[in-house]
Amino acid sequence: MAIDDEIKQLFTAAQINLPESMKLVIELKDKFDITECSADTILQSIKTDDEQAGEKRVYLSSRIRESLNSCQRCPLYLSESNTRKVPGEGPLNSPLVLIGEGPGLDEDKQGRPFVGRAGQLLTTILDKLNIDRQKIYITNVVKCRPPQNRTPIKKEIDACSHNLELELSIISPKVIIALGAVPLNYFKPGSSIMRERGRWIVSKDYWIMPTFHPAYILRQQGKTLTKVKWAVWQDFNNAIKKLTELCPEAISKISCNKKE
Ligand code: URA
Repeated sequence: MAIDDEIKQLFTAAQINLPESMKLVIELKDKFDITECSADTILQSIKTDDEQAGEKRVYLSSRIRESLNSCQRCPLYLSESNTRKVPGEGPLNSPLVLIGEGPGLDEDKQGRPFVGRAGQLLTTILDKLNIDRQKIYITNVVKCRPPQNRTPIKKEIDACSHNLELELSIISPKVIIALGAVPLNYFKPGSSIMRERGRWIVSKDYWIMPTFHPAYILRQQGKTLTKVKWAVWQDFNNAIKKLTELCPEAISKISCNKKE
């Protein structure tokens, strides 16, 4: 019996559902004729720059989308404000992942994360840091737009968390920037963004930098605006510094190729 069948049988016998990431790894092995057994090594193999790694990433991205599209775990997918699921966007070998709260009106219309006003501000911040938005992975804690853009409730966040877990288990980024209280609380429940922003959280091998959400910056004025902008600028810079320390080659992978 093939080892993957044995794994499936063991999980079935123990009445445990095989984790989604494990199912995808097994599929990847079948599809690409991979003989390697360790899931970690297989996932590492999607990070390289060769052609087959690229094909594996395309395959996994479409499977992540399929899994998301079939999700009916909370009522948000039926909500009138939600016309489609908004998957994460970017390469699955990105060493940096940005996580927001959930799609707003523009994101719901376009089916892409961070494309409204807050998203434009986020792109400006990344530009100033010379980071190419298309070379990093950007996603949200919940993938369906909550009614009137309200903050997602715990039940919705819990129900949706398998989607983010799947993305993170495949990408295994070095550094995560948590944009606002919702992603902060996903990693560290019960915390306040006012207290925690700028302070590293280390969880499951990820270095997580919580900072203010770009929409929060857009709501500020006067001196508070200057203070909040400065805080976010420092947080992003610290995240990039940490990424350079952990993975010196990462920066060239995510930088804009500026013309001379
Ligand atoms: N706010 C978020 O948190 N996510 C988006 O995708 C857009 C706005």
